[in-house]
This record gives sequence, structure tokens and C-alpha cells, in this order.
Amino acid sequence: MSTIEISDHKQVHTIRQYYRWQSKIYDATRWSFLFGRNLIIKCIPLDVKGEYQILEVGCGTGHNLRNLALHFPKARITGLDASADMLSIAQNRTRQYSERIQLVEKPYVLGEEGFREQYDLVLFSYSLTMINPQWEELLQQAYNDLKPGGFIAVVDFHNSRFNWFKRHMGNNHVRMDGHLLPALSKLYKTVFVRILKAYAGVWEYVLFVGRK
Ligand SMILES: C[S@@+](CC[C@H](N)C(=O)[O-])C[C@H]1O[C@@H](n2cnc3c(N)ncnc32)[C@H](O)[C@@H]1O
Repeated sequence: MSTIEISDHKQVHTIRQYYRWQSKIYDATRWSFLFGRNLIIKCIPLDVKGEYQILEVGCGTGHNLRNLALHFPKARITGLDASADMLSIAQNRTRQYSERIQLVEKPYVLGEEGFREQYDLVLFSYSLTMINPQWEELLQQAYNDLKPGGFIAVVDFHNSRFNWFKRHMGNNHVRMDGHLLPALSKLYKTVFVRILKAYAGVWEYVLFVGRK
């Protein structure tokens, strides 16, 4: 049974409202700043021929779902997202792979038992920095949902030395203060980690692959 607390309702409501309009310009704009999304998939140490179960939390318009389906041609992939507007774009984009890609419209929450130890890989791509303050609970939930030895892969904003930029991102519901990496490396065994600069260092983004 999923246990959605009042604070989760607020976060989910805010995000759904935000993406009602942003979904219409998402793919036309995000290529210019959501860096590392293609690279993170290449960093996952799983044999591409494997019959894996993969979950992407906050799959949005399906950019990664399509790439995952191409990279792992025998995998079954679940894309979960709280926003119906984002998922309707993902549905069009992944139609070609609809036998292997399942889309689920609901928020990811701590306490959900339905996915327990089902996944070989859980991907969070630019979702954790938007899930505030529950992001740490969701790392634990992903741990619960991974099979023993399964992998978590994360690509997301890391930090910026410019407070004006952090404020700007905060206005767009993104928390950017280097908070993800310490929590990830505490809960998971680090397999791969890189911090890379965007636009000559206006901000940094992080790629992390860890093992349960
Ligand atoms: C910046 S977008 C990233 C989309 C996609 N992963 C990508 O890389 O393009 C963040 C996504 O996370 C979703 N999201 C935010 N909070 C969520 C939650 N609690 N549960 C599930 N999805 C959530 C939003 O609806 C949105 O589609």
C-alpha cells in the first residue's frame, strides 16, 4: 500500500501544475541544459543483451525510456511519473516499444510495496533535485525496489558557485547544493561517479552509478 503524506501531496500538486505548461516546451528546451542523460546509460555496467527489469522514476517525456529501450533491446522498462501531461508525450515517443515499455502515472513514494526487489536498474534523471523534501526517502525506496546486487543510476544537477543561479533554479523547483552525492554514496556502493561542468562552470552536474 502506498502511504502518501500531506507533504507529498503538496510536492506532487506543485509539480503537476508546473509541468502542465512546461510539458509543451520541455523537449524543445531541455536538450540545452539537461546534460549527461545519454552518457549515464552508457555508464551502466549491465550486459546490453540481458533481460532486465528497469524502472525510471520521473521519466517525464520519455527521452531516457527510448534510449534505454535501444540500449537494452531485451529489457522491460517501467516509466513512472506524477505528471499526466509529461506522460502523454512519453506515450507518443515510446509507442514503437509499447510491448516493452509500461507507463505508470503516480508519484514514487516511500512505503510502496508493489515494486519490492523487482528491478535490476533504477534510473533517476533530473528528478531527485525536484523532489523536495522527499528525495532521500526515494533513494531508500529505490534501494527496496532493487534486486540484491541491482544498480541505481543518477544524473542530476550537482551544485553552482553562483547564488543567483541557485535562486533561479529554486524558482523552478530545483534544489542545487551538492546534497545528492553524499546520500547516494552512503546508501549504495559506488561503481562510477563524475562531476562535470556545464557552460564553463556556471553549474556542475553529477553522474552516479551505485550497487545495492
Ligand atoms: C526534470 S523532469 C525529468 C524527466 C526525465 N527524467 C528527463 O530526464 O528528461 C522531472 C520529472 O520528475 C517528475 N516527478 C517529480 N516529482 C515526482 C514524484 N514524486 N514521483 C514521480 N515523478 C515525479 C516530474 O513530473 C517530471 O516529469
